Amino acid sequence: MKTLREYISEAEVKKVAIGHFNVSNIEALHGIYNAAKKLNVPVIIGVSEGEEDFIGRDEVAVLVKMIRERDNYPIFLNADHHYTFESVKSALDTGYDAAIIDAVKLPLAENIILTKKCVDYAKILSQKEGRDILVEAELGFIGQSSKLLDSVPEGVSEATMTKPEDAKTFVEQTGINLLAPSVGNVHGVVKGGNPRLDIERIKEIKNVCGVPLVLHGGSGIADVDFTNAIKAGISIIHINTEIRVAYKEALEKYLKENPNEIAPYKFLKPAVDAIEQVVYNRLKLFNNL
Ligand code: 13P
Repeated sequence: MKTLREYISEAEVKKVAIGHFNVSNIEALHGIYNAAKKLNVPVIIGVSEGEEDFIGRDEVAVLVKMIRERDNYPIFLNADHHYTFESVKSALDTGYDAAIIDAVKLPLAENIILTKKCVDYAKILSQKEGRDILVEAELGFIGQSSKLLDSVPEGVSEATMTKPEDAKTFVEQTGINLLAPSVGNVHGVVKGGNPRLDIERIKEIKNVCGVPLVLHGGSGIADVDFTNAIKAGISIIHINTEIRVAYKEALEKYLKENPNEIAPYKFLKPAVDAIEQVVYNRLKLFNNL
């Protein structure tokens, strides 16, 4: 099977994006995988530090690897937004295919040092274990939580968007394999509507930085913005809030209608189906199907 790096290169050539979806339990993993399989497209499973704590670092790694090997299917695992070298290292040691070191809150010089340390570690581990581990970092601020927001997260503005020349320098100095820029995207769904993406900025960053780009904060973004962002150079798109909302709403509805149901495999089934539906629609759009 091709490596994640190869699937990303293929997506760049085909002008499509690979979907990245977060999980914190096995139901979400089923919903996402069911959708990907129906469309026969590669997919990335992400766990933030909090999600990883809940599902279990070893457990999620074993599950994703087992599915990949059992079905010979391109499903990959990413340590999404890990904040320290130690947490990135633990995830990579456990067998994750990729990790995001999120050091945007640090001063730039410290961000670069920490990011480079993770990149260097991933290279050594890749060599030692014959793997091809990818390291991603974020530049510019896009907020932090996958939730419903009353307004654009505090601190996000045009001033915190990624500047193409900074992106170029950051990639050169850190050696990262993937860059997550701030281009109008925010984590979470803004009640009055998410901001529009700055497509020109994506193009400029892509032209100068030399690595594939990852769009975080995918929930709530207009379809046309996704399509234009992919054409402009986005190769991976992250979705979390939309699947959290779908899961919760389906579960609430079922329990309200069936207050006496106590079998988890029954009351969680509609939640799995709801996740599958969201992921299916997003994957169709991202893969131009
Ligand atoms: P959303 O919750 O806005 O979809 O963002 C998810 C994300 O970027 C995870 O890294």
